[in-house]
Amino acid sequence: MNPDRRDFLRWTLGAAAFATFPPYAAAQDAGVIQLTAGPSEHTLYPEGAAPSSLWTYNGMSPGPEIRVAKGDRVRVRLTNNLEEPTSVHWHGIRIDNAMDGVAGLTQEPVPPGESFDYDFVVPDAGTFWYHAHNKSWNQVARGLYGPLIVDEAEPAFDRDHDLTLVIDDWRLGNDGALDLASFGSLMDWSHGGRMGNWLTVNGRSLPASKLKAGEAYRLRLICAANARVFELDPARFGAKVLAYDGQPLPEPVTLDYSPFLLGPAQRVDLLVVPQEDFALEEISGNEPFAFASFKVEKGSGGDEAVPRLAANAIPEPDLSNAQTVRLEMTGGAMGGFAEIVYKGRRLQGEDFQSTGQVWAFNGVANLADEPLFRARRGETVVIETVNDTAWVHAMHTHGHHFRIVERSGATADDGRPWRDTFLIGPQQTTKIAFVADNPGKWLLHCHMLEHAAAGMNTWFEVADS
Ligand code: C2O
Ligand code: CU
Repeated sequence: MNPDRRDFLRWTLGAAAFATFPPYAAAQDAGVIQLTAGPSEHTLYPEGAAPSSLWTYNGMSPGPEIRVAKGDRVRVRLTNNLEEPTSVHWHGIRIDNAMDGVAGLTQEPVPPGESFDYDFVVPDAGTFWYHAHNKSWNQVARGLYGPLIVDEAEPAFDRDHDLTLVIDDWRLGNDGALDLASFGSLMDWSHGGRMGNWLTVNGRSLPASKLKAGEAYRLRLICAANARVFELDPARFGAKVLAYDGQPLPEPVTLDYSPFLLGPAQRVDLLVVPQEDFALEEISGNEPFAFASFKVEKGSGGDEAVPRLAANAIPEPDLSNAQTVRLEMTGGAMGGFAEIVYKGRRLQGEDFQSTGQVWAFNGVANLADEPLFRARRGETVVIETVNDTAWVHAMHTHGHHFRIVERSGATADDGRPWRDTFLIGPQQTTKIAFVADNPGKWLLHCHMLEHAAAGMNTWFEVADS
């Protein structure tokens, strides 16, 4: 964040209003949500910067907040006005496989000028998001993502106390516009991914919002960054965690450690009962960098009970009767000379440069004809992930939430929350477990989108019966 710290200080004086999402109704047509992907220009950096050439849904980034209720049927017509094919993935939704939106695995990408109808049911209440899933490293970094909020049947918080914050980091050039020239840099792909140098929340730089003292708020944080792991410190303003990746914890949990990490694609719902002004800060640098601020005004006195979130019904893994799959992550810069097979061929010499494949799962880069594993429907799967690289990764399973059952030898003692994306540090081992109850072909990949494009991408298949 360092390059922009000074500018931020200047800007705290007149922070932009906090952009909340308008109720999504405008483009809804006979129950079908219209989502149009296309180019549009936006100024990301405050004050007189050059506009950025973004790719957006309905002309905005983030795209419109799609807000539905648990159990709803959701219909979305995606129209592609981009210059290249695209598709939409509904991240974290335990969805019908044909609607998962993975170009090349669950559907053909939608060509320019054409459209595709998504039609699915949302089984879980919680904080989810949607994003492009064709060349995601490019399309997501240009702005193709938005929040997907599934309300409880009886919403736990009213709309004034339920805020969505989509956080992104953009890489801007010296003119303050999105740096297009650096897309696809093999340097990013083989290192930590495309890191930005400017943060936005809901597309705004350094927004401010007003809250009422003593009242309970739900802050839904969604990390839409390609590769950045945010280090946050919500304990500083007394926040508790309500939910991870859309799935509520049995009780709100006080964070007793710092920093709190929020990696690519991860979500956290925070419970805040503010007493005084506070800011969301990224604390990985030398000094904290505040990227959203909250002004706290006199409230109702607020002794109201804090709403409880009911658990979603996810089948509990049966560890005594599980298929265990080992997944070894290799490659990348400082990873020694990883042996990588890509499209059935062992890469060597110039191949890494020409194919852009520099990471592997069990020695294989990207999607092979055969899945990493097959599971019977209803079978518990344990994936033992060994990170034999010098980098942190954000591993995501499609179609299923899992429990983290073991981390680097130690049994997880944090109540084993359900997640759909977990962070794994260099040389760490993590075991996750889930019931493979959703038939179809599902991706398993690093959500650092450059890593996925450069090899950290595989799939598994759950049989129909
Ligand atoms: Cu957020 Cu493969 O997805
Ligand atoms: Cu990665």
